[in-house]
Amino acid sequence: TAITFIAHDGTRYDIDAADGSSAMENAIRNDVPGIDADCGGACACATCHVYVDGDHAEQLAPMEAMEEDMLDFALDVRSNSRLSCQIRIRPDLAGLTLTVPARQA
Ligand code: FES
Repeated sequence: TAITFIAHDGTRYDIDAADGSSAMENAIRNDVPGIDADCGGACACATCHVYVDGDHAEQLAPMEAMEEDMLDFALDVRSNSRLSCQIRIRPDLAGLTLTVPARQA
């Protein structure tokens, strides 16, 4: 499934992401700068924070309590903020665009 990360400097990373993988795993594999993922995807660090583009924000599974709690530790949180380790790639998310914030917690 084709997804895109946009780094803070505007660089685009167009990625063919495996279905079932997390958005964060794809960022790490493709060296997208600004996704630190210190906890390795356990929803315990908030350093995989991204902004979801408007077209897809509604399509994602709603946040579980753990993600919501952890997002409180992220910096510059907006209404379209998510933790990318909690975004599961599926075919219908094709075109998903995730913007990396200026800084991570
Ligand atoms: Fe740590 Fe997502 S990688 S919360």
